[in-house]
Amino acid sequence: MRSELESVVDELKRLRKDGVSHVYVSDESIRLLDQRIKSASLAGGAGGQSEAQSAVESIPDKIRSATPEEFDRILKEEPAKVEAKKPAAQSSLGPPPDVVLPEGSKQERWDVLREQVFNCPVCKKNTRPGYKTVLGVGDLDADIFFCGEAPGADEEEQGEPFVGKAGQLLNKMIKAMGLEREQVYIGNIMNWRPQLPTRVGNRPPTPEEIEFCLPYLKAQVAVVQPKLIVALGATAAKGLLGAGSFRSLREIKGEWKTFEGIPTLATYHPSYLLRNDSKRDKRSAWEDLLKVMERSGLPISDKQRGYFL
Ligand code: URA
Repeated sequence: MRSELESVVDELKRLRKDGVSHVYVSDESIRLLDQRIKSASLAGGAGGQSEAQSAVESIPDKIRSATPEEFDRILKEEPAKVEAKKPAAQSSLGPPPDVVLPEGSKQERWDVLREQVFNCPVCKKNTRPGYKTVLGVGDLDADIFFCGEAPGADEEEQGEPFVGKAGQLLNKMIKAMGLEREQVYIGNIMNWRPQLPTRVGNRPPTPEEIEFCLPYLKAQVAVVQPKLIVALGATAAKGLLGAGSFRSLREIKGEWKTFEGIPTLATYHPSYLLRNDSKRDKRSAWEDLLKVMERSGLPISDKQRGYFL
């Protein structure tokens, strides 16, 4: 019978064959894998180094134990060594769309934008059959505009940003700020889920994909005219602030920048916080949100100030 480890290795090989360039593995999973490998090779006797063990050990240490930010940096510094097969959707998007919004109420302007996005041939072509192109949702009069990366599996199914696990955490973060999801605006850098040949796995959008969708994001910002924008994660921050504006999210998180003249602050993506059960990172993300609350004039109780301490 195939061991669990061999099944994991088979799945990783299958993903690599399908064009998945990297998967995030938490420290806890690495620890469990290490344990399994040790017990598998003990059971297999001396010299019984399994394929799974050599596969895991062949991953350089600095990649195996990298945080997502460090991994981003490694990819930048050593593209030749770790670069993966480029996804097919990358080269033929054409020029970014012109978005011309009419005069009128916010709702009228947003409805026109919605029509344009849902009829956008490039969005349609890149949204897989049976799934949905995704535009932002929320209060068009919101003070706070949360901007994420791209729809995932749940979002392309439901046609709404942040409805999966990351969305549940984002909802909790919004609630902790004393607001409801319906009182803010939630959008993404991207309007479609970056395509992979499989249903599983996500990949970050390419610079070309981000550039293509940016006019749609700018138009949403122009309609809502929020007081503040919160960029969730490095990809959103790079999309809003420019790909070359920082190397690691940690360099700029919690600092006020501007996008389209609007104060913009980057913080950790909820998916990162879900993967990293670090109290320090949670507190740090919360401190960013406290800054957002302060600047947008939301009341802050002592209890709120003390979260995650
Ligand atoms: N992650 C994002 O960045 N956006 C979503 O809509 C969902 C998950």
